[in-house]
Amino acid sequence: MSIMQPTEDTIRRAAEIIRSGGVVVMPTETVYGLACNALDVSAVRKVFEIKNRPAGNPLIVHVAGLESLGLVAASWPAMAEKLALRFWPGPLTMVLPRRDCLPLETTAGLSTVAVRAPDHPVAQALIKAAGVPLAAPSANPFSELSPTSADDVDPQIAQAVPMILDGGPCVVGLESTVLDFSSDMPHVLRPGGLPRSLIQATIGVPLGESPPDSVRRSPGQYQRHYAPKTRVVLVDRLAEDQPGLTLAPPANENQILMPSDPSRYASALYSCLRRLDSGQFDEVYVMRPPLTPEWEAIHDRLGKASSV
Ligand code: TXA
Ligand code: MG
Repeated sequence: MSIMQPTEDTIRRAAEIIRSGGVVVMPTETVYGLACNALDVSAVRKVFEIKNRPAGNPLIVHVAGLESLGLVAASWPAMAEKLALRFWPGPLTMVLPRRDCLPLETTAGLSTVAVRAPDHPVAQALIKAAGVPLAAPSANPFSELSPTSADDVDPQIAQAVPMILDGGPCVVGLESTVLDFSSDMPHVLRPGGLPRSLIQATIGVPLGESPPDSVRRSPGQYQRHYAPKTRVVLVDRLAEDQPGLTLAPPANENQILMPSDPSRYASALYSCLRRLDSGQFDEVYVMRPPLTPEWEAIHDRLGKASSV
């Protein structure tokens, strides 16, 4: 493994690795991804193996923008186009009917594909240089915290890839919002970097409720996920001697004061949980953020991180 600064040369080399069936770690604005050619069955299998990911959990496919959506999606409604025009490149993944050229391994046998255009210059340059859509799950071992910097890529993953492109810290810091168009009303399968309110305001209709079979539709929605190794306990307020993340004035040196703005909180969350994880604590505590809509994705991740 080697962490490389992105230059024309290293991006061209990463693209060659991808075109010849290999896997590299690339930065995106949300989290770092483990990227390969989405159209190459054996490369996709490698990604599942490196991550130790269950085969039933489909990958997100990354394209440069709306103009490339037709490479992987067979069709899409006007609403999807409107959203892509407004929010791509950005942290919005849309689940649409797949094109037959996509191997079933990429979509875990589903008739749909999850697709997004990442808002990071290195990811964009890599997609263009590779000339193929890139399948890229978050670059963490299954169920663990996603990396939000090149240094945070797990050693197990780092060791398994020839190159990690260092694109700096991820600005969004939480995975993309996954929006499903495969039933009558679009609905959010995974809250994420793009707030639901912005989606709703753009399409002008309320989003549907996630149907009860959403676990089947988005097999990635495991109860315990995005979790550090240390047990996480959610509390209304940290006690004086507890280590953890707080929104109140810290009472000891192991309490990390988190930003009170939800976007800034999101971009710091995984790296702060990692810091606590290396502190050899039996448990770490997280003060619950406000229960208002702009904290939805953060509540989702904290809920999963603290699930046992
Ligand atoms: O921000 C992100 O989305 C990052 C960066 C690297 O782009 N990627 C990411 O990928 O979070 P991953 O594999 O960790 O999560 C993909 C999620 C899973 O919950 C998966 O089940 C869901 O997307 N998904 C993928 N394809 C799907 C499909 N066809 N239908 C429903 N859900 C799908
Ligand atoms: Mg993931």
